[in-house]
Amino acid sequence: MMNDNTIIAGIVAGGSGTRMGGVLPKQFMELKGKPVLIHTVEKFLSHSRLDTVIIGTNPEWRTHTEELIKKYFPDNDNVFVTDGGADRNATVFNIVTFASKALGCRADDIILTHDAVRPFVTHKMIDDSISAMDSYDICTTSIPETDTVVISKDGSKALSFPDRRELYRIQTPQTFRLGSFTDVYSSLTPEERSQATDVCRLYLEKGHSVKLIDGDASNIKLTYPFDFTLAVAILT
Ligand code: CTP
Repeated sequence: MMNDNTIIAGIVAGGSGTRMGGVLPKQFMELKGKPVLIHTVEKFLSHSRLDTVIIGTNPEWRTHTEELIKKYFPDNDNVFVTDGGADRNATVFNIVTFASKALGCRADDIILTHDAVRPFVTHKMIDDSISAMDSYDICTTSIPETDTVVISKDGSKALSFPDRRELYRIQTPQTFRLGSFTDVYSSLTPEERSQATDVCRLYLEKGHSVKLIDGDASNIKLTYPFDFTLAVAILT
């Protein structure tokens, strides 16, 4: 059984949501009367093992984010906002740095990193992520691929069909200890940092085993306007 490590949620909310369009970045758009970000933060705050939530947001939206936190969680001192970075990994890095420097978290404390725009994360995913830290340096939520996937270089000619039984879709939470992330991230060149779109890929390339835990088809990332329609349907 786990121990007395602090367990943190790191909510990456520093994106601009260009594929979604709209006036507000999608994490601030309202879903059934509440901003998407708030739906997501509530999932973590309502979990008994989580001590702290840190949100990484674009500096231009920082005041807005702080106002939302005050409005929706007026009595909660455990939700913090820090600046996001130029890409998703840089936002994760800023959150990890904030946890260590501003909150005094230790290297073996655990962080569940999660997309602000995945409001349907479940407590089971959080539980399974925390349990995986007994045996692994990193785990990611994922689901088996259901579509046949084809590789093409030009979007016109099919080159090969990977075996679908070996394909999984990555979701979040992605979970690791603060110290291992700092070690992996600081060993990369700026080019390597910006090229890898996913923290798990960084760990894999540095020789760590990446544990897959069960996600769910409903744990969607709001990316395009249609995903909002889906999200409303999931909530109804
Ligand atoms: N994200 C982040 N910091 C960045 C870029 C992305 O924290 N510099 C976050 C987003 O806010 C989101 C998650 O990473 O919660 C997944 O990002 P994604 O939806 O793929 O990207 P966006 O930049 O938000 O959208 P788009 O690519 O359509 O512009």
